[in-house]
Amino acid sequence: MKVKKAIIPAPGLGTRFLPATKAMPKEMLPIVDKPTIQYIVEEAVESGIEDIIIVTGKGKRAIEDHFDNSFELEQNLMEKGKYELLNEVQKSSKLVDIHYIRQKEPRGLGHAIWCARKFIGDEPFAVLLGDDIVSADTPCLKQLINQYERYNATILGVQAVPDKDVYRYGIVEGKRIGERFYTVNSLIEKPNREEAPSNLAILGRYILSPKIFGILGLQEPGAGGEIQLTDAIATLNEYEAVYAYDFEGTRYDVGEKMGFIKTTLEFALKHKDLRSQLLDYFSTVLEKELINRP
Ligand code: G1P
Repeated sequence: MKVKKAIIPAPGLGTRFLPATKAMPKEMLPIVDKPTIQYIVEEAVESGIEDIIIVTGKGKRAIEDHFDNSFELEQNLMEKGKYELLNEVQKSSKLVDIHYIRQKEPRGLGHAIWCARKFIGDEPFAVLLGDDIVSADTPCLKQLINQYERYNATILGVQAVPDKDVYRYGIVEGKRIGERFYTVNSLIEKPNREEAPSNLAILGRYILSPKIFGILGLQEPGAGGEIQLTDAIATLNEYEAVYAYDFEGTRYDVGEKMGFIKTTLEFALKHKDLRSQLLDYFSTVLEKELINRP
């Protein structure tokens, strides 16, 4: 069966970016000139996804507005002859069919996914987490879908992370059975360095079997007192094969401050109008900082 639907969970409070996220969803924070969630939606569309459901929560209306038409703004840009901008503004509302559902209480990622079960029904589906932006020749999700088409089973997008960082991720222990491809033996959510069975971390991309919903419905809270998707996948692994694919490309962590700043700088360096201005700026800053350094 083809993977046509995707879930993007976006219910979180964005506490790492307060006060910026007090009245604005963290998913709307821009990397250069596009909100982070638009990069995620574009990756899904480029991977062949036809319908997206975004799981939202309180204070997330700006996401819906962003992917909607904006009559007054479009009219205004048209009257002023700003056609290039008009095109950009219209692009976000024409990307794909987006549906919304609210997670009514903050009970964790696993619960947020479970909230979308009626929309997905009985077919395999994708999950893309908004804290991870991946820049790759073949979109990250498309790489996983290509593998899904060979194996017809749950596939997790993973990459190796430094040992000191394993505590921030879902970690898989697997057996390598092909190029970049593993069978998963065990999974653990946010282990400390000593308990981590490897440094292969799940980095925000999944193709899941719909069987996961039944498991999520019964899942007890795990790490951080939340219903964890990783725990449910560990149970699924007892009944069905679960694979991990070490995807190609650079993954940017926009879920924490330093990662967000680095992503902004690297994306600005790739931007044709900003690159040389930014390099000039870097050299001035470096010179000044080096002179003033004790
Ligand atoms: C979530 C998942 C975790 C995964 C991570 C990737 O954690 O629970 O398994 O490795 O995303 O970014 P969160 O960052 O929401 O705490």
